[in-house]
Amino acid sequence: MSTAGERLPPRAQFDRIVALTGAGISVAAGLGTFRGPDGLWTIAPDVERAMHAQYVPGNVDLMWQVWGGMHERAQEAGPTPAHRALAAVGAEVITQNVDGLHHTAGSVDAIEIHGSAGRARCLLCTWDGPAVEAARASGDPRPRCPRCGELVRPAVVLFGESLDEAALAAARRAAATCDLFLAVGTSGRVAPASWLAPLARAAGAMVINIDPVSGDPGPAFHRQVTGDAQRVLAEWAES
Ligand code: APR
Repeated sequence: MSTAGERLPPRAQFDRIVALTGAGISVAAGLGTFRGPDGLWTIAPDVERAMHAQYVPGNVDLMWQVWGGMHERAQEAGPTPAHRALAAVGAEVITQNVDGLHHTAGSVDAIEIHGSAGRARCLLCTWDGPAVEAARASGDPRPRCPRCGELVRPAVVLFGESLDEAALAAARRAAATCDLFLAVGTSGRVAPASWLAPLARAAGAMVINIDPVSGDPGPAFHRQVTGDAQRVLAEWAES
């Protein structure tokens, strides 16, 4: 059973801090979450078509509209205090987000287990690179592969697709070797990201959830810090 509390334990107690982040950490950058009353899926159900591999290639334009738009808005807004706090304390970041804000904040080794909307992948050849390279090469609103000219898609992992094995292995290693595991702004509803907290707990780490919605985050967690990640993490990084 986890116990609610408004603060995180002192950082000095820990040698290796890992943070698994979700959409909630980027809300302050103007990006929506996926679930819940104001979640993207509630207010714009067609967004879901941009999230399932079964609709590719018919949904490529919608994918650019949803994921490309999200990435652009995120980069315009810039990292939030919570992104910067995790970089400042040297936390190892595993993120489900594709907005690139952890890298921009300075967590340059952040593991993007759901890919990145800042990168594109060719639908035909093996080209994979920065989305801006595809846009520049295309000369038309539909970004095209600079190598073969075929359409490209955002390099995000869709439902029905497997995660990059190397990224997942790195995430598992981080969870299994840390002594503090923070889940920040994630509903914990999507595997395999949701397997990381139990892995950290089994390895002996202190496991804490940070979310403004109070409730029991599940048996893997020792504690729930109920609050806005922006406040909780900024105060913690300054303490
Ligand atoms: N601080 C901390 N947490 C917050 C904040 C905030 N300011 N605002 C919202 N949250 C919390 C919500 O209460 C919710 O628990 O963030 C969580 C967001 O949950 P989801 O919308 O389910 O997003 P996420 O967990 O990242 O989804 C995981 O599902 O849709 C797929 O691939 C997509 O990566 C995504 C994955």
